[in-house]
Amino acid sequence: MTGRVEPHLFVIFGGTGDLARRKLIPSLYELLVDKELTDQVAILGVGRRDHTDEDYRAFATQSLAEAGIATEHADQWCGNRFHYQSVGNDDGYMKLAQRVKDLDQLHGLGGGRIFHLALSPSAAQSTIPQIGESGLASSDGEVKVVIEKPFGHDLASAQRLNEVVHRWFDERHTYRIDHYLGKETVRNLLVFRLANALFERTWNRDHIESVEITVAEDVGVEGREAYYDEAGAVRDMVQNHLTQLLTLVAMEPPIDMRPESIRSEKVKVLASMAPIAPEDIVFGQYTGSNDIVGYRDLDGIPAKSTTPTYVAMRIAIDNWRWQGVPFLLRTGKRMPMRTTRIFIRYREPPVHLFHGENTGHRNLLLLTLQPDEGFDLYFDVKAPGDEIAIQQIPLSVRYEGHLGALTSEYSTLLHDLMEGDQTLFVGADEVEASWRRYADVLDPVTVDPYPAGTWGPQRGIELPLAYGARWSEEEI
Ligand code: BG6
Repeated sequence: MTGRVEPHLFVIFGGTGDLARRKLIPSLYELLVDKELTDQVAILGVGRRDHTDEDYRAFATQSLAEAGIATEHADQWCGNRFHYQSVGNDDGYMKLAQRVKDLDQLHGLGGGRIFHLALSPSAAQSTIPQIGESGLASSDGEVKVVIEKPFGHDLASAQRLNEVVHRWFDERHTYRIDHYLGKETVRNLLVFRLANALFERTWNRDHIESVEITVAEDVGVEGREAYYDEAGAVRDMVQNHLTQLLTLVAMEPPIDMRPESIRSEKVKVLASMAPIAPEDIVFGQYTGSNDIVGYRDLDGIPAKSTTPTYVAMRIAIDNWRWQGVPFLLRTGKRMPMRTTRIFIRYREPPVHLFHGENTGHRNLLLLTLQPDEGFDLYFDVKAPGDEIAIQQIPLSVRYEGHLGALTSEYSTLLHDLMEGDQTLFVGADEVEASWRRYADVLDPVTVDPYPAGTWGPQRGIELPLAYGARWSEEEI
């Protein structure tokens, strides 16, 4: 990353919302202080309600305090940097346009603007034309727009959203967020695969038998019942986060590291994905267990909801590299633990020379993306003693011990955005290709129940067996 951060006004639509409070404001602080960029940026919160600049500074200070930043620092940093503008009235956007100009002059920002839409897809759809029509999208400086996940609700709505975005912003200035791409360990995937000849040579159907991608969460829907019941596990996690992991694992090496080169390889993977067969997908929904209330018993969830809180699927990638290798994807709420992992099972050796109970292992590679980030490569060794007894042991590396603390995903993404690097953002064609792949599996009519705190319904546990594979927790 070599770009320079030009001065700009960072405008947060949904400025007093949950995302602004929990992620954006603390990450802006972390980034701007760490990179000494504080003087380059002023922040304007935008919302429908009326608030003063002072109210917004208090909100920002509170958000920083919640993120563990001492109040006197937070207070001082927020200083005259935070402003607020309401767009709740009829002429709200005209007033906003004037306010943006005034703040540009006040802080000497040269017309640079970033509009971060911390909004739902439908609110983003209606906000973008108002930004465009009020003249906010044109300026002497560079103007960028940031759109949060989920990008649309299905293929048609994503296409509509892309269409309205492109009416006012070209693709080069459009940044679609998938916060998984900001995670250090996800960024490391390409380095791991392509900088290490050992893995680069073996990363194909000749050597790999199956690939598992699991994103398990121990939490439930955490107060977002209305959103979640409309979305479900495929929209909330698979279409974006798991698919990003899948494409990074499966893509061909790009010709160089330019964002467009990487994106075009990712799109090819999506195009090679075969339609998902009904027997290759299992939907689940958690039921109450111990002191955890079941999904359908939550306030605001219909008693007969068939929204999946779990999904497991087998994906076939019909190309030269991966023909015949099952990609097993799985995500769920209220699972036994929080873990994001990629598990690669290598093929067995062609001949078994060592006979006995404990032989016939495969090499296994477990990449743990969170928490306890690191990797474990399992291989066979001879146990000490006269007999040839074989034991499988891991070679393990944990990032934190070797490389120190990892930066937060939002500050990574915001920094790239400010520098103009789109590598970690999702392209228009990529987001549409992904919705297209999952079009038939977004809204199941039935879900298998599973008790909260377990690894999902029985059919999901058994899904890999049809392909001679097993989920990682059963194998190691
Ligand atoms: C969000 C989903 O995009 O990702 C949430 O909407 C989910 O439902 C979250 O909990 C998981 O993110 P992370 O970074 O905690 O793995």
